[in-house]
Amino acid sequence: MNKIRLKDREFTLFITSDEIEKAVAEMASRINNDMKGKTPLFLVILSGAFVFAADLLRKIKVDCDITFVRLASYSGTQSTEKIRELLGLNEVLKDRTVVVVEDIIDTGHTMDDMIHKLKNLEVAEVKIATFLLKPAALRKDLKIHYVGMEIPNDFIVGYGLDYDGFGRNLPDIYKVIPDL
Ligand code: IMP
Ligand code: MG
Repeated sequence: MNKIRLKDREFTLFITSDEIEKAVAEMASRINNDMKGKTPLFLVILSGAFVFAADLLRKIKVDCDITFVRLASYSGTQSTEKIRELLGLNEVLKDRTVVVVEDIIDTGHTMDDMIHKLKNLEVAEVKIATFLLKPAALRKDLKIHYVGMEIPNDFIVGYGLDYDGFGRNLPDIYKVIPDL
């Protein structure tokens, strides 16, 4: 199916699950190489990254811990600068290698906020792994180590990403058809 409807908007197929799988496998193999001899802590940013994290982490072969934080910055199809932390961090992160796992970096506010928090917790190093990146929307100076795919500045859903709560369960990624 090439077109879907979620609430009041229509979306068209953009990235297939096959393309997603390939990009995830490539990222996993880079991370496996870079993390040899380390015991990283993967910090998954909920909710959006839950599907990507499940795929990525099953391909990670080094010893690792996995933990979760829940953040929210989006309202409808717009990113806001106010990041709400809905589930906090309990682990001791001091001196750890932390790999932040995110579904998408848009303006970069969410990630920038997270990186500042992690630096205050005196981690040894932080790497950012995002499945998607919208370079044209980025407003923060972030060093992003692992990117699955770069995409244009369109609103998308599927593979964990939602439109007002809907669409997270879709195995493929769809992009919004703009209102005329
Ligand atoms: P940022 O703070 O603007 O970089 O936004 C990051 C967060 O907004 C991500 O973690 C996503 O949850 C959400 N987000 C950004 N772009 C999209 C999109 O196109 N569709 C759905 N959610 C998005
Ligand atoms: Mg997210």
